[in-house]
Amino acid sequence: MIHIILLFCFVSVESSHFYGGTVTWRPMSNTDTSSKVSILFTQSYQWRRSYGSATFCDQTIITNQSPKLVSGSDTLQCTTTPSSACGSYSSIDIGEYCTDFSTIVDSSSGQISTLQNITAGSKFCVAFQGTAWIGLQSTNCVTGRKKRWLFGSASTTKRTTVSTTTGATCYSTSAAWSIGCCVDLTFRSDGIINTPPVATILSQNTLYSLTA
Ligand SMILES: *[C@@H]1O[C@H](CO)[C@@H](O)[C@H](O)[C@H]1NC(C)=O
Repeated sequence: MIHIILLFCFVSVESSHFYGGTVTWRPMSNTDTSSKVSILFTQSYQWRRSYGSATFCDQTIITNQSPKLVSGSDTLQCTTTPSSACGSYSSIDIGEYCTDFSTIVDSSSGQISTLQNITAGSKFCVAFQGTAWIGLQSTNCVTGRKKRWLFGSASTTKRTTVSTTTGATCYSTSAAWSIGCCVDLTFRSDGIINTPPVATILSQNTLYSLTA
C-alpha cells in the first residue's frame, strides 16, 4: 500500500511586511536505508519590499545572491516535543536568496534550500513562527481569547483585535502564526521513503494562526 501524505502548508497575511510562504522537504534519495537520511528543506517566503533593507530586493541583489532577505532574524525550528524526536534536526535561519521582486505589488520573494542529515524513521514538524509582529485581516474577530499555536504550544497572552467596517473581518495586530511542514521518514511497506508533494504556487490563503 502506498501512503501519500500531505506534508506542506502555507499561509498568507496582509498589511505587514510578511506576505506568507511555504516550507517543504524531500529526501535526496528516497531509497536511502542508512541510519541518517539526507533531507533537503526548502523555505520560500514573500515580503513587503518597501518595508526596509531586510526585505528589499533588486536585480543587483538577485545577481549577487546577496544580501539574503530577512537574514539572521528568525529560524525554522523543530516544534515537536520532546526535542529528541527531532531526529538531530538543527534550526535553520530563515534568510533566503532573493529570486523575484515586484515594484507593482511591492513584494520581494526568496528561497533557500538547506541539507541536513536526519535520523531514519523520524517523525517531527518544523515551523517558522511569529507572534505579535504582524497585522492581518481575519474573519475570526473574537477578542480576548488565548492564542493557539498550530504545533502544540499555547501562549497565555490574550490577543487584541480591532473591528473595522468591512463586514465580518477585523484587523488583528497580535495574532500568533506558524508556517511549517511535518517530516515523516518512516519507511513505507515497499521500503521507500515517502516523498511529499510540492506546491509551487500559493493557491489559497490559510490563516492557521487565528483558529481559536
Ligand atoms: C551528512 O553526512 C555525510 C556522511 O557522513 C557527510 O558527508 C555530509 O557532510 C553530512 N551533511 C550535512 C549537511 O551535515
